[in-house]
Amino acid sequence: MCGIIGYTGVRDAVPVLLRGLARLEYRGYDSAGIAVHTDRGMATRKLAGRVAALHDLVGRLPLHGMSGIAHTRWATHGAPTERNAHPHADCHGRFAVVHNGIIENADVLRAALGRSGHVFRTETDTEVLVHLIEEAGGDSLEARVIAALEHVVGTYGLAVISADEVGKIVVARQGSPVLLGVGEDEYFVASDASAILEHTRSVVYLDDGDIAVLTPTEYHIIDRDSHVQLRAVDDLAWDLDEIELGDYRHFMLKEICEQPETVRSTLRGRLVFEDGTARLDGLNLTPEACAAVRRIVIVACGTSWHAGLVGRHIIEALAGIPVTVEYASEYRYHRQIPLPGTLTVAVSQSGETADTLEAMRAARAAGSPVLGVVNVVGSTIAREADGGIYLHAGPEVGVASTKAFTSQIVALALFGLHLGRHRGLSLEAGQEFVCGLAGLPPLMVQALALEPEVQRLAVRYAEASNALYLGRGVNFPVALEGALKLKEISYIHAEGYPAAEMKHGPIALIDENMPVMFVAPRDQVYDKVVSNMQEVRARGGRIAAVTTEGNGDLSALVDQQLRIPATAHLLSPVLTAIPLQLLAYHVSVLRGCDVDRPRNLAKSVTVE
Ligand code: F6R
Repeated sequence: MCGIIGYTGVRDAVPVLLRGLARLEYRGYDSAGIAVHTDRGMATRKLAGRVAALHDLVGRLPLHGMSGIAHTRWATHGAPTERNAHPHADCHGRFAVVHNGIIENADVLRAALGRSGHVFRTETDTEVLVHLIEEAGGDSLEARVIAALEHVVGTYGLAVISADEVGKIVVARQGSPVLLGVGEDEYFVASDASAILEHTRSVVYLDDGDIAVLTPTEYHIIDRDSHVQLRAVDDLAWDLDEIELGDYRHFMLKEICEQPETVRSTLRGRLVFEDGTARLDGLNLTPEACAAVRRIVIVACGTSWHAGLVGRHIIEALAGIPVTVEYASEYRYHRQIPLPGTLTVAVSQSGETADTLEAMRAARAAGSPVLGVVNVVGSTIAREADGGIYLHAGPEVGVASTKAFTSQIVALALFGLHLGRHRGLSLEAGQEFVCGLAGLPPLMVQALALEPEVQRLAVRYAEASNALYLGRGVNFPVALEGALKLKEISYIHAEGYPAAEMKHGPIALIDENMPVMFVAPRDQVYDKVVSNMQEVRARGGRIAAVTTEGNGDLSALVDQQLRIPATAHLLSPVLTAIPLQLLAYHVSVLRGCDVDRPRNLAKSVTVE
């Protein structure tokens, strides 16, 4: 949801900003812009299109300066045009603003500012900010920003520069992520750490209400009353090569292939074979608290919601606790019915998804403790949760989530095991599950070796307009996830359904033009799923199946079988998901789609 970056220091800001912007492009990619303090005042370049096009523009119309701000946009208010691209300027070009978030009272403010003579040039909500800053009194840029923000209702991570205070960047945060980077004789501001990782590992996460003032020689943070706020400087654990493509053609493929390693990282140091349990120090739950949980509510969106559905099966099986899995965007507007013993778990790769964050806050307001299952260290959900589990899957850059999904399942499995061992799961059963988890990475390598077969299948799928994904039990969520992956990056309409539910409606769609993918590993519902395959076959449907090595031959029913190795049935989604991720990837490539930047999407959905 828009990426912002700012730089002030001893170097030429322009290449730093453009490189950072390219790294943030997964957050939005419909337009881009940059504003810099040059020798001859403030100058801006912007356009509708990608960061690469902005790069070319700056090549044709060069720009240099030691401080500036830049933005890559995911349009909310106003079409993705050059005019609507950030940075936005006030009436006299004295201030430039980049913004991530939504100004909810923009219409009212726009009308009032219009009456005072301000001339608006864009359809964006952001433009009101820069006119408010122009209108505000104050003897410094930060004083103006504070005064302007008094009128604003909404969310923002923003950075502002002024022609009158060369070298200074003022940053404000309310509800949209922003962090500062601390270098030597240089400071950065960015929506996320990937934009600045190549320059510094020292970051300061801002809190809501913070105003940061950066100059080439120092930074400080104040609140709205100008009181100095002290914030820790954290060390980034990510490596630069984790955000580089390396030899891969796309981040999505890189991240799919990384999964044996990322799952290993999620497991690292957490499995305790002797006790048949998982060590999860970050949970901050005492054994008594684990024993007292009566209900778990998982809140999440998209792929993370699918991981939550898998987690539900695992937690219920191991810990005997009823689990509901809620769409965060719906949950936050439900009436919250406080139930003693409820524990809420927010699952989020980015840790910044606005719906999930608000659902978590609503749960807390209803009296529930909240845990986060989060990938991005220092993200808002991670910081607001009472405890949680980090995925340690490394940065996920591809917009379609892949490695986070398998790590989320593994993290929820660790959680289920941990709870289970406090609630009567036997040592032997715990140890068996520990072995199952520890054995996953090499099995994932085998699942990845299906790629050539998946590529052959992709040729057929690339021609399709619709596809159906069917699964049951713990693999029904994998069917949902397979369908989501296909639709979001190849624009083929795909639906996931519980295999047996198909005959209650979707079976009407089945004909020779509708490819049907069954997720059917060997488990207690396997024979039932084979019956569902027969129902599809009888209607001329073309079936492919992800199934387990050693299962009987399905060739009488199925055109193509993708065989994953056997594992504990509760953990099978970690393996069955892999060929479906690869399928979506190869279909997208064959159809010539932009795999890592699918249309209309953005990686981190920080608006409602
Ligand atoms: C799909 C995808 C999205 C995210 C969803 C939640 O490939 O990436 O559906 O899963 O937007 O994002 P996080 O996990 O960051 O909360």
